[in-house]
Amino acid sequence: MESIKNLSSRQISFIMNTALIFKEKDYRSEDLKDKIFGLLFFEPSTRTCLSFESAIHRLGGKVIKYNSNYSSEKKGESLEDTIKTIDMYIDVFIIRHPEKNIISKIKKFTNKPIINAGDGDGEHPTQALLDLFTILKYYPKYPNKIAFSGDIKYSRTIHSLVYLLNKLCPDIEFYFVCDKLLEPSNELLSSLKKFKICNDLDYIIKFIDVLYVTRLQKERFNGEIIKSYIIDENLIKNSKSKLIILHPLPRNEELSKDLDNNPKSKYFEQVENGIYVRMSIIYNLFE
Ligand code: CP
Repeated sequence: MESIKNLSSRQISFIMNTALIFKEKDYRSEDLKDKIFGLLFFEPSTRTCLSFESAIHRLGGKVIKYNSNYSSEKKGESLEDTIKTIDMYIDVFIIRHPEKNIISKIKKFTNKPIINAGDGDGEHPTQALLDLFTILKYYPKYPNKIAFSGDIKYSRTIHSLVYLLNKLCPDIEFYFVCDKLLEPSNELLSSLKKFKICNDLDYIIKFIDVLYVTRLQKERFNGEIIKSYIIDENLIKNSKSKLIILHPLPRNEELSKDLDNNPKSKYFEQVENGIYVRMSIIYNLFE
């Protein structure tokens, strides 16, 4: 799974349905006991890495973790030689890397399945699937209006989720609330039917169904100083009763902790759903 764009509606619905069964049953099995998964994270991660590991354990699979800080990469080994080597040890690659579109390069060095666990400021397809799973619980027929705030330019989670929602329901209205320097690319906007770029969260909070918040990806900035929009109790007091607040996490100052116990906040539910959706993704690789 390189990009969310490559998944068919049928595959997406299969992943959603299987994830729901896994969640409802708190499913554990030995279904993948003969499979070895390689977790290769060239960028930091807590949720994606560990939820994949948990998902693999719950399905009886085995995990090998590659740590770039303690590997022969430090002695100058190329990515190509690293992939060709690990290819002999495992059945499936799960890769996070700081370079956008790296998966299409890595595909040349292995014939094993590769799951993109985040490629730079490109995509994060498995996060988008768990975001969708969370949204569908509250909006089974899709929300009408969804706002994204924070770092639209560099947020791979936003890119994948926008492509996914637009593929499934092109009538959704997308609102992008961000600094001028962090606006979405023309490539993303040209794929959408209905969108607005705006900076007035106080106004749009009254009518949106979903607010998807992201942190500023300062590690991808070139020295720019950009202020975050702050999402807190005060901002959402005029929101719809059915509003849900999502965040892929980790968070910085943009999402106030005073919202953590608010029933509209669903970001820790997203974290939990990550296990079931990732179980479903790896399970469906072998179906
Ligand atoms: N949402 C997400 O990708 O979190 P991690 O960076 O902790 O994996």
